[in-house]
Amino acid sequence: MAQKMNIVKKLFQGFVLDKIKKTDWANGSTNPLVVELDATEACDLACPGCVSEDIIANKGRFSNERLLSLGVELKEAGVKAVILIGGGEPLMHPVIGNFMRYLGEHDVHLGITTNGTLIDKYLDTIAEFSSWTRISMDAATQQTFDRLRPSRNGDSKFHHVVNNMRKLARVKNGKMGFSFLIRTEADGFGIKPNINEIYAAALMARDIGCNYFEVKPSYAYAGGIDHALVVHSEERMRDARKEVDRLNALDTDSFKIMKAINLEESLTGVKNAQNKNYHRCPVSELRTLICPSGVFICPYWRGKENFRIGDAQKMSFAELWNGKRRKEVMAFANPSQKCMFHCLRHESNIEILRIIKDLKDGKDVDVVDEYDRFI
Ligand SMILES: C[S@@+](CC[C@H](N)C(=O)[O-])C[C@H]1O[C@@H](n2cnc3c(N)ncnc32)[C@H](O)[C@@H]1O
Repeated sequence: MAQKMNIVKKLFQGFVLDKIKKTDWANGSTNPLVVELDATEACDLACPGCVSEDIIANKGRFSNERLLSLGVELKEAGVKAVILIGGGEPLMHPVIGNFMRYLGEHDVHLGITTNGTLIDKYLDTIAEFSSWTRISMDAATQQTFDRLRPSRNGDSKFHHVVNNMRKLARVKNGKMGFSFLIRTEADGFGIKPNINEIYAAALMARDIGCNYFEVKPSYAYAGGIDHALVVHSEERMRDARKEVDRLNALDTDSFKIMKAINLEESLTGVKNAQNKNYHRCPVSELRTLICPSGVFICPYWRGKENFRIGDAQKMSFAELWNGKRRKEVMAFANPSQKCMFHCLRHESNIEILRIIKDLKDGKDVDVVDEYDRFI
């Protein structure tokens, strides 16, 4: 049966519970377990309505030396996993291959969110060290791909990306995913719907040799809220529902259908109200975001000055993490007042707060075997 992602279960792994136990929650953690990293803001695609459009316009990136020294600092800080994301396209950074190899050889797990155009350049390194590589596709045909994921130089990248995925499928140690962002006219930018390709794209993903197919809703800035779910017409969502329901039959042990946590809300249009009645965000003590333009406490606040801890191009990671500014930002970032978007980690926050309380009350917390560092 297709599954909604379950990130809460990951908190019950020994290394996470240990971290929760050892953290002085009044003062903050000594290091995050997971870092999301924008190595570069450059991108070879120009996707309409890209959530990182403003950031890509900056075209910033870490210098080669700094990216590599950052890898060493993250390892030394005790970071367990790094997700290469964007901003731009992570594989466009000139020394990303060395960076990935360093992490892999030092037991820092690696996850990659990529547009797939440069997988062939780093095929061996990705195959050896990436725990998961998720390729953003959003289409089953070249025509739709070219509309939603056009390249900056005008050449279609569709067949190249599909071939890259096939190559990776043959040699990878980790998992490979096909990401499908549902889009309709409501996304703006003259976008045409890709809904009728959801099922075909999943078939294609399976044929390519992906381990999973992920279907997710899009965000935009709306009503004063960053990352608000785009509200689509009922008719479009009825059609999307039909396609999404058909996916269930494709789910097997070797090919998983993953539905984003907030997909249901997008399909039904029924708001899943999140009562964030907590004043600090525990997840931000365990995960963080490092970008060329600064370190931010969370990806929802990427590029937002009030949530910026400092500049990793100028300061060491330890200085940033343990500094006064991070404490101030964490106190300012009161989720009950600031986080008006649908937060994918709200349930994780509730659970961490429950675990902290249970531990304080001397209650046992059940541990699960370690299976996934990407909490
Ligand atoms: C901005 S891209 C950067 C990484 C890489 N270049 C890629 O294409 O995957 C990261 C993810 O953001 C998602 N994304 C882009 N625009 C979005 C939007 N408006 N709403 C939700 N997700 C979006 C893409 O589907 C992609 O998986």
